[in-house]
Amino acid sequence: MNPLTSLARRGLFLFDPEAAHGLSIKALKTGLVPNCPAKADKRLSQTVAGIVFPNPIGMAAGYDKNAEVPEALLKIGFGFTEIGTVTPKPQAGNDKPRIFRLVEDEAVINRLGFNNEGHGAALARLKACSRDALIGVNIGANKDSADRIADYVGGIHTFYSVARYFTANISSPNTPGLRDLQARESLAALLSAVLSARDEEALRSNRRVPVFLKIAPDLTEEGMDDIAAEVLAHDLDGLIVSNTTLSRDGLKDQAQAKESGGLSGKPLFDKSTAVLARMRKRVGPKLPIIGVGGVSSAESAAEKIRAGADLVQLYSCMVYEGPALPGRIVRGLSDLCDRERLTSIRDIRDSRLDYWAGKNV
Ligand SMILES: Cc1cc2nc3c(=O)[nH]c(=O)nc-3n(C[C@H](O)[C@H](O)[C@H](O)COP(=O)(O)O)c2cc1C
Repeated sequence: MNPLTSLARRGLFLFDPEAAHGLSIKALKTGLVPNCPAKADKRLSQTVAGIVFPNPIGMAAGYDKNAEVPEALLKIGFGFTEIGTVTPKPQAGNDKPRIFRLVEDEAVINRLGFNNEGHGAALARLKACSRDALIGVNIGANKDSADRIADYVGGIHTFYSVARYFTANISSPNTPGLRDLQARESLAALLSAVLSARDEEALRSNRRVPVFLKIAPDLTEEGMDDIAAEVLAHDLDGLIVSNTTLSRDGLKDQAQAKESGGLSGKPLFDKSTAVLARMRKRVGPKLPIIGVGGVSSAESAAEKIRAGADLVQLYSCMVYEGPALPGRIVRGLSDLCDRERLTSIRDIRDSRLDYWAGKNV
């Protein structure tokens, strides 16, 4: 980390994590974070689910919940970004404090509970963005919703004209009962409803927007079997593996570890990568998978791809590494292509699938 970044980090860490997050959004909005577009490298560009991604590194959902800075994030090196989770109505989320840094572990615990300004506010901002900006929309349900599936369907209809892809997030641990949508029958009902809404819109607009499903890392083998079966039975475009974990295994910061919520960052890497590989084995080689959880370097991003990911996302490690991280990872992936004489980063996909699928986590 360069001295300036380390100084900026020390400054931001004087604030509580949610205030620091707000300041980082402000800095991106006002252009205080220097633009640092990753150099185009055709070896890193891929078409996944019909979309051409300039590089495989994306900003994960939860950083830019209200679509305030998607284009700024694309200027600091990310190949794509995902806004949300957005819910139909604005909601405040859980009481503060609700984000915790586990500095020694390079981890974060959050129990935000889908705080967001609602569909209307995000839609207005997305309408002002360039059509070329590669922005996904992560949709969810309001905590007090009487019909959660209808909230996801509403997300598809509302954002259809501005989303390059959708993510149905059924894996946040902070909305009571949300993860129950991963159970087989509920998932079947959700996928049918969401994908018929997509098909309706596609017919109307003559443009098919892919839909991904974001799952938790805390699944049993049977839970993974059920999800894979439903995913294959429906016309889903891909999986995002994974959201935060409820596990607290192996943490150094035992005091903060007691906070409830979802854990992310470095300690999530092994678990989320093992679940990614197990899902890749179950769904086969064709279905796109985005790997997320604990990515902190070009090497860890490459390892997600070796475990079966087509694309990679990150959030928590940027809190520790700063905004130069995406550019650094993209450059590191180009170096890896040089070193290993790859014509495409895709050539390493699945090369460590068996290792990760068999890993005991
Ligand atoms: C503060 C915070 C808020 C998050 N909010 C969301 C969210 O609204 N929707 C979602 O799908 N994932 C959310 N996530 C999960 C991330 O998108 C990602 O799946 C997870 O943090 C693992 O990646 P990481 O270790 O790189 O952070 C959030 C994560 C953090 C740390």
